Amino acid sequence: MENDATLTEAQTKIRACDDLAALRAVEREYVGKDGVVARLLASIPTLPSEQRREVGQGANQLKQAVLEAARARESELAAAALAAERKGAGFDPTLPPARVERGSLHPVTTVMREVEDLFQSMGYTVLDGPEVELDYYNFEALNFPPDHPAREEYDTFWCEGKDLLLRTHTSPVQIRTLEQHAPPIRAIVPGRVFRHEEQDATHEHTFTQVEGLVVDEGVNVGHLTGTLKSFLRELFQRDLDVRLRPGYFPFVEPGFEFDIRCPFCEGGCRVCSKTTWVEFCGCGMVHPNVLRAGGVDPERYSGFAFGFGLDRLVMLRYGIDDIRHFMGGDLRFLEQF
Ligand code: PHE
Repeated sequence: MENDATLTEAQTKIRACDDLAALRAVEREYVGKDGVVARLLASIPTLPSEQRREVGQGANQLKQAVLEAARARESELAAAALAAERKGAGFDPTLPPARVERGSLHPVTTVMREVEDLFQSMGYTVLDGPEVELDYYNFEALNFPPDHPAREEYDTFWCEGKDLLLRTHTSPVQIRTLEQHAPPIRAIVPGRVFRHEEQDATHEHTFTQVEGLVVDEGVNVGHLTGTLKSFLRELFQRDLDVRLRPGYFPFVEPGFEFDIRCPFCEGGCRVCSKTTWVEFCGCGMVHPNVLRAGGVDPERYSGFAFGFGLDRLVMLRYGIDDIRHFMGGDLRFLEQF
């Protein structure tokens, strides 16, 4: 009975609230830490035991009823606020909605996905490896002994601390792959690589390579050239002349430079520096020491590997004249794709 009167009083106060702050204050008065309900509950231990249950239940019912009334008032206030806003000056329901800015894929990502699709359609898996790499994987296991002069070719960013570097090529993933998968292996590894070089229109400290690795019984140079030719045919949608020149990389034997006839000119342009040939990639047959380092028996298995730079393909595709645009972060460049 007492509670009924308290509830009526609370409901009246709640209905009189004109804003959220006032409503919260009334709520505190009844159901707050030191409110009416709390005091009722606190009195229970002092009561004769036959009254305790009834007082406890009454207090809880009061609490629920107050909260319910407060919720009802809160939605009334919200509805009123919205209605007022709609009537107010600034509201124009005929305005178009705020424009959603949609980003787009970086051109390197677009071509990368295309390359991944093409190799996947030839049965390759796409693998990944760390950008901060151990000397062991970047050089040593790839048959570059500690003082080998070929290390000089890779302008390496060394990390502080022992043996860590930013990978200078994607080839370390050859070893990681051989360690983790038994032949037959058919994989590509696209990824960022880093070189401490002077920057200009064709050199950037960070660029993208795609490594390829195939290891199985009876793999030979014919498989290597055939694979690269079919890949290029799909990518450029026509047959391109190619040529192999001897090339030196410690982790392949024999090693080659793989060139393609310039797809953009008949006899000399800027892209090919008037030589009509464009260097496409380094490649070769996986060196027996590399197979051994990866735990694969070179008496039984052989393989080929290649590594090409993706950035140049992207530049050729879109007519981009400076590699520094890729990492430049200039929206005027990026918004064109
Ligand atoms: N990793 C070599 C480079 O970056 C390219 C390469 C890859 C050569 C695989 C042979 C085999 O120069």
